[in-house]
Amino acid sequence: MSKIVILTGAGISAESGIETFRAEDGLWAQHRVEDVATPEGFARDPKLVVDFYNARRKQASEAVPNAAHKALAKLEKLYDGQVILVTQNVDDLHERGGSKNVMHMHGALNSALCPACDHRWPAPMVMATGNACPKCAEPAARPDIVWFGEMPYDMDEIFDHLAEADIFAAIGTSGNVYPAAGFVTEARRAGAQTVELNLERSVVGNQFAQHRTGPATRIVTEWVEELLGNAVPARPDFR
Ligand code: APR
Repeated sequence: MSKIVILTGAGISAESGIETFRAEDGLWAQHRVEDVATPEGFARDPKLVVDFYNARRKQASEAVPNAAHKALAKLEKLYDGQVILVTQNVDDLHERGGSKNVMHMHGALNSALCPACDHRWPAPMVMATGNACPKCAEPAARPDIVWFGEMPYDMDEIFDHLAEADIFAAIGTSGNVYPAAGFVTEARRAGAQTVELNLERSVVGNQFAQHRTGPATRIVTEWVEELLGNAVPARPDFR
């Protein structure tokens, strides 16, 4: 059975109005990573961090899944093979766009984590510092986000899938952050066809055999329709 492994990044949610990280006006132009996306930053100023994720959780809850999210959900439903969706994104637009199995390797805004007992529970829309863990009552709840310097989730399972991939696609990710940026290397080692779908070439763009350039809402939809065999053949150029 054919297996497609897909990695998505902030670019797939851009057309839903959620800013990316490294665009000129992106999140990392507005906030210092070390202040809001590291364990040290959380220890230094937990309120700053909790408020940062409260704002992102609210923004994500008001955003609407776009055609690219929906296309990947259609692929998962109709493809005659296995579709593995791994996202670096912490919003839930893939799920709200209809995807059933989503691996959030960088965590999720809708989840809270107890650093004392590792318990996870649905995060309230507005978290406060010192929220107690519902399981062990430790007043240290934190956003269930994988910060820089922490181990992303599901890595063993993800690498197992990459080792069996027939197709590996990276959608809307700049290739700046490992281990995700290294997935294409693992997929190539497994002999997978590799395709990058992005507005422009990413930092690891040269590792991909194929590139589809444009806004995700258009190029992901076209790519999925081709995979499902519904694509209207490109109009031959009449010379
Ligand atoms: N369609 C397709 N691609 C797009 C679109 C769009 N409409 N808009 C932006 N992009 C592409 C950009 O060209 C860029 O390559 O999305 C990518 C966004 O890159 P980043 O902002 O670096 O986001 P991402 O790659 O997801 O970041 C990875 O870094 O800060 C950490 O944990 C954070 O998960 C994040 C990780």
